[in-house]
Amino acid sequence: MSIASQATDRVIIFDTTLRDGEQSPGATLNAEEKLAIAHQLALLGVDVIEAGFAVSSPGDFQAVKTIAEQVGKAEGPIICSLARATRKDIQAAAEALKPAAHPRIHTMISTSDIHLQYQLKKSRNEVLAIAQEMVAYAKSFVDDVEFSPMDASRTDPEFLYQVLETAIAAGATTINIPDTVGYCTPKEIGILIQGIRENVPHIDRVILSIHTQNDLGLATANALAAIEHGVRQVECTINGIGERAGNAALEEIVMALQVRKHYFNPYFGRSVNSDAPLTNIKTQKIYKTSTLVSQLTGMLIQPNKAIVGANAFAHESGIHQDGIIKHRQTYEIMEAASIGLPENRIVLGKHSGRNAFRTRLKELGFELSEADLNKAFNRFKEVADKKKEISDWDIEALVRDETQNQ
Ligand code: KIV
Repeated sequence: MSIASQATDRVIIFDTTLRDGEQSPGATLNAEEKLAIAHQLALLGVDVIEAGFAVSSPGDFQAVKTIAEQVGKAEGPIICSLARATRKDIQAAAEALKPAAHPRIHTMISTSDIHLQYQLKKSRNEVLAIAQEMVAYAKSFVDDVEFSPMDASRTDPEFLYQVLETAIAAGATTINIPDTVGYCTPKEIGILIQGIRENVPHIDRVILSIHTQNDLGLATANALAAIEHGVRQVECTINGIGERAGNAALEEIVMALQVRKHYFNPYFGRSVNSDAPLTNIKTQKIYKTSTLVSQLTGMLIQPNKAIVGANAFAHESGIHQDGIIKHRQTYEIMEAASIGLPENRIVLGKHSGRNAFRTRLKELGFELSEADLNKAFNRFKEVADKKKEISDWDIEALVRDETQNQ
């Protein structure tokens, strides 16, 4: 059964790490690296892997084909290739996807006036005709066809509705709405999706999807706003990598839907307290996937990156550390283990308090009297003023120093 007819009660995760993600400057991957990431994405539980842009190079064609062969098994994810709305692109995508059990062609054409005038140099009527013809052409190869009107969020809504109606009539099964230049705010995304749902005939027969770029740092917020307005597929990448400032980060969308499930449930017609997951993602595999993508693309993860950054589960201030030691939920809304990290991290530094210091000493095997603890703590604060982070080795050294000097 095609995913389009079975998935409206959850969010379909369409991962485009290997296509849009790879468009990050400097993040080029070879076919072997793409295959390793594709295997990991399948283990993570993504529903769709956009494996590449088959026509763009012989290497990408081969990568899509190999992923289609080795990851696109009957029980595996949908394998997708991007294709501009041209016969040559669609033929290349169809050929590369042949070995996949569930192939999808994702075809796109720009629809905003600024793209039509300066980039495509085509009239609206010409774009309408191309969309109709190329969706039908893609459909002659595969059942599962996704259509994207590029720069949708800056397109005249009346024209956008017309293009989408045409693509659906020609056989598109997923309609994806790209905020190509990351221009919208969450409220505007809501209005855009609402308008599409109210004005495009038969929109309820297809899966409605969102693709948000992060130019204003709003990609995740925009994707979540779209979900609240009825979108049921989200296009995203691991670590949020992608063209320019990147895409919505898979781990952020998935963990927002998981941690705030009770908030999102009513948008899916579920009872508020339902505990059924809103995606198929095995969240405990997020950290491993994130690390693999970072290593293979060479794209470092900023320490304060939500969910997967080195500091995402680290606590430095004394007040926070004291709370965490007493009860984890005082300052943690999710557990490190839920993304596959063994534990959170108490970082000892100049903001740390006595309770965190005492706890670390116990972990290191030191049982100090209250008076010794006070002395060691004062020494620790002096050292902490000079260093960014105090290691276990520093602590052992200063405790031994303190006790030997008695
Ligand atoms: O940003 C964009 O518009 C895209 C489309 C191909 C979905 O990447």
